Amino acid sequence: MRIVFIGPPGAGKGTQAQRLKDYLEIPHLSTGDVLREACQADTPVGRQAAGYLQSGKLVPDDLVLEIVGQRLEEADCTAGCLFDGFPRTLAQAKALDRLLAERQTPLDLVLELAVDPQELFTRLAERGRDDDAEDTVRQRLAYYYQQTVPVLEYYEKCGLLKRVDGLGTPAEVFSRVVAAVNQQSDGTGRRETRCDN
Ligand code: AP5
Ligand code: MG
Repeated sequence: MRIVFIGPPGAGKGTQAQRLKDYLEIPHLSTGDVLREACQADTPVGRQAAGYLQSGKLVPDDLVLEIVGQRLEEADCTAGCLFDGFPRTLAQAKALDRLLAERQTPLDLVLELAVDPQELFTRLAERGRDDDAEDTVRQRLAYYYQQTVPVLEYYEKCGLLKRVDGLGTPAEVFSRVVAAVNQQSDGTGRRETRCDN
């Protein structure tokens, strides 16, 4: 299966994707993790991305698409993939459609993890990643509303979007994620999908 996790910063995309990766035995591709690793290793990609990550701005689409395109070439992705934090602009969503159409492996499901802003700020203040300072979280959230909410609307029109309540313990949220995935894979939750909007 090919599944996209979308949600605001701190919604639990990484937490849930890690669990689902073990459950479905398919790779987890977090563009944020790849970019942070590139920054730490001081690669050319990392040097280009570092300033964006630190300030909570979106990294340019072409850089992110290069990372995803390369990862999809790897053999383990033929079995499926969990996309976490990607796509987060309409241009990225349309490029992903093209990448997957070339491989005749379209998306099966888009899961929106819904969490209110107050809870997001609490979770990220407790975590304390480099980009978790309150002002940076505010910036990340602003990008989410401006650039990524239209992606949700895009997938809603495609009939691929399912909204999952992201509040509760990670285990409680995971049981909702699994229910949505199983509904999609056994056909009971399937709607007509048309991604040409
Ligand atoms: P990215 O790494 O994708 O960060 P994000 O979207 O801001 O989200 P987070 O990773 O902070 O949160 P999450 O939803 O994964 O939640 P998590 O499971 O960690 O992106 C970072 C940056 O990279 C961007 O700002 C941008 O610069 C760049 N970037 C990445 N992708 C890009 C793209 N496609 N295009 C352009 N730029 C891109 O959980 C958060 C915390 O909450 C953890 O401490 C966790 O333990 C806790 N938690 C999780 N679930 C629960 C729960 N149910 N209850 C209580 N606590 C919980
Ligand atoms: Mg994450």
